[in-house]
Amino acid sequence: METLTVALADRAYPIHVGRALLDRGDLLLPYLRQPKVAIVSNTTVAPLYLERLSGSLRRAGIEVVEIILPDGEAFKNWQTLTTIFDVLLQARCERATTLLALGGGVVGDMTGFAAACFQRGMPFIQIPTTLLAQVDSSVGGKTAINHPLGKNMIGAFHQPKLVLADTDTLKTLPDRELRAGLAEVIKYGLIRDLPFFEWLEVHLEGLLCRDPELLAEAIVRSCRNKAEVVVADEHESGERALLNLGHTFGHAIETAMGYGQWLHGEAVAAGTLIAAQLSSQLGWLGASEIERVVRLFQRAGLPVFGPPLAVERYLELMQHDKKVREGKLRFVLLKDIGQAVVSEVAAESEVRRAILARSAHA
Ligand code: NAD
Ligand code: GLY
Repeated sequence: METLTVALADRAYPIHVGRALLDRGDLLLPYLRQPKVAIVSNTTVAPLYLERLSGSLRRAGIEVVEIILPDGEAFKNWQTLTTIFDVLLQARCERATTLLALGGGVVGDMTGFAAACFQRGMPFIQIPTTLLAQVDSSVGGKTAINHPLGKNMIGAFHQPKLVLADTDTLKTLPDRELRAGLAEVIKYGLIRDLPFFEWLEVHLEGLLCRDPELLAEAIVRSCRNKAEVVVADEHESGERALLNLGHTFGHAIETAMGYGQWLHGEAVAAGTLIAAQLSSQLGWLGASEIERVVRLFQRAGLPVFGPPLAVERYLELMQHDKKVREGKLRFVLLKDIGQAVVSEVAAESEVRRAILARSAHA
């Protein structure tokens, strides 16, 4: 097991990455304020892993409440959130009860938001079971649900007490979900870590074959990048926005296509290529750099063109982007591979041109 720390002063917490961690209820015990937890999972993950986690906690004398949500991005909404609150109240959970998120980013984001709200804030622990959640969403304390008008529009910053990433759970992850997770892994290389990007160019096929050592290294290197950015700018007043490379366009794709049609990582991949295209139009990325980026996403089996979506629809949905300031769009762009910036220099005509250049045509 390898352990990193998100060094947020009095709210610092560890990220444990390793095998068979679901059986290690003992790792959770120091973080519980009372011998009672509520585990939130979904109808896909619970049959696979809930009993192992619940069993190891019960054997340690912990009372376990189980909350099983419907599976899917389409359920990351108010109604599902309410079902979490219903069970917490019916089971007489208290402010000192700990909420555990067992699942991918959807379960993690909703559980974290429920924990931020219930009785004005209860502790929670992330136990991510997708690659995307292990490298990104479980770390950093962003929690949210979707609104029909925009992705992750309703949420809160609420840091977990612990992140427990059991890499064995990735064995049952569908291929499409593994590839979607790789989009966020590649993101770290692109925004701030050229050596990691180069390492991914060497090891991409090994990661797709789920080589356990390569996956563990990719997770640790991703989490290290994420933890450094979060510690520098927890509430996204500056540098943290770089973690949203491709997300301004990607969130528009997810919302326009209907939540769950394009996976988050797929939309981020297509969005990253639009951002790279815009960067090249500004004279920042050369043709050979763009080709390198496209090639890596292609090898990962990720989309390198967005869906046939009208440019007007992109522009309308992007108005809800959280980087918009006084109505003006700002984008995460690439000065080079490994060097991202937040910029508002792109004229609307250039943004339109970049979207068109990177959209599949109907
Ligand atoms: P997801 O949570 O929908 O999980 C993907 C699918 O895999 C689901 O069907 C899930 O049930 C299934 N699954 C999960 N673990 C499994 C396992 N071990 N074996 C088999 N199936 C498994 O999707 P995701 O990609 O994990 O997360 C995407 C979400 O994360 C989006 O809502 C996105 O907005 C959010 N996100 C949040 C942050 C953040 O900082 N909070 C960062 C990135 C993404
Ligand atoms: N995934 C973007 C962030 O955590 O800031």
